Amino acid sequence: MKSLYIHVPFCKAKCGYCDFVSYPEGLDLIDKYLIALEREMQLYRGMKLSTIFIGGGTPSLLSVTQLDKLIKLIKNNFDLTSLLEFTLEANPESLTLEKIAKLNIVNRFSLGLQAFDNNILKKIGRLHTFERFQQVFAYLSDCQKDINIDLIVGFKDYPYFLRELNMFLKNEGHKITHLSLYMLDNYSTAEDQVETYLESVRIIKNYGFLHYEISNFAKKGKECKHNLVYWNRGEYLGLGPSACSFLKERRYKNANKLADYFNGKQEVEELSNEQVELEKKMLNMRLLDKGIPYQKKYDFWIQKGYLKTKVKNVVLTDLGIPFFNQIFLEL
Ligand SMILES: C[S@@+](CC[C@H](N)C(=O)[O-])C[C@H]1O[C@@H](n2cnc3c(N)ncnc32)[C@H](O)[C@@H]1O
Ligand code: SF4
Repeated sequence: MKSLYIHVPFCKAKCGYCDFVSYPEGLDLIDKYLIALEREMQLYRGMKLSTIFIGGGTPSLLSVTQLDKLIKLIKNNFDLTSLLEFTLEANPESLTLEKIAKLNIVNRFSLGLQAFDNNILKKIGRLHTFERFQQVFAYLSDCQKDINIDLIVGFKDYPYFLRELNMFLKNEGHKITHLSLYMLDNYSTAEDQVETYLESVRIIKNYGFLHYEISNFAKKGKECKHNLVYWNRGEYLGLGPSACSFLKERRYKNANKLADYFNGKQEVEELSNEQVELEKKMLNMRLLDKGIPYQKKYDFWIQKGYLKTKVKNVVLTDLGIPFFNQIFLEL
């Protein structure tokens, strides 16, 4: 069985911090994009899927008719008899009750919230308010959907983040099954920033979430099955611009630009043994319960409090996470 990722490369507007492949200027090309997706799907007709993740960009931006078409394409081309999880990423701005109703097959919604404060949301280019998020969130919760919330820690001039995070989880934490906490790409490892990150982690764990991957927290049994396939180097098919596939130890990457994607441009990458080992090491370190086999040279990082031993392995500590990129180079 395989996992399927579909990249929807459209957003109504580009958020200031984001470098995902998405085009605000290509909205009139969505129907053409769906035709290209169908062509790609036909090459893998009958593939049996365990998980599906529609991400982006902003999949919720598609109209009700376009979403309906996308779901039909998936149903017509793949074997879904053993499907365990179906996630759709959504921006609260464009996810409507009508769309949620149409997306009956989707059992897990990932909502991009990022921050709780309307002034910050506006400043970073979000088109929704916190109140709009709450409306969509309440409806998804009433529909008994699994819900992930994306948050970003590290925005400037946002001293109330921790207080608001705590308040939000106190009121709504029981309705959330999963939480992704991303550090802004240029997150500083200055002492006060590290302390903010550590305090965010403490608050989230305090509301019953397990920290199972560097950026991800879940209620027991609600870990993202799809992303676990990536982190455990399972096989997946990626469709749409910029999407990667990993099939039979080969990685395929679709072109980023819409015009190139429409022309079927794709790169194939065969990994050397050395690259495979490095990739396994990196992915295993990301999984906070897994890690890599202990070696004497890791004592330096253990003493600093960035790594700890777990049975015969070493794993990252919360304190080690903001320094992961630096530590990894020396492991
Ligand atoms: C594809 S987006 C989510 C769906 C939808 N487009 C939205 O923004 O609501 C995936 C997530 O990546 C995170 N993200 C994007 N750019 C980031 C950055 N520069 N640093 C940290 N996290 C980032 C955001 O939390 C975002 O919700
Ligand atoms: S809506 Fe989501 S994918 Fe689009 S620019 Fe903003 S964060 Fe990135």
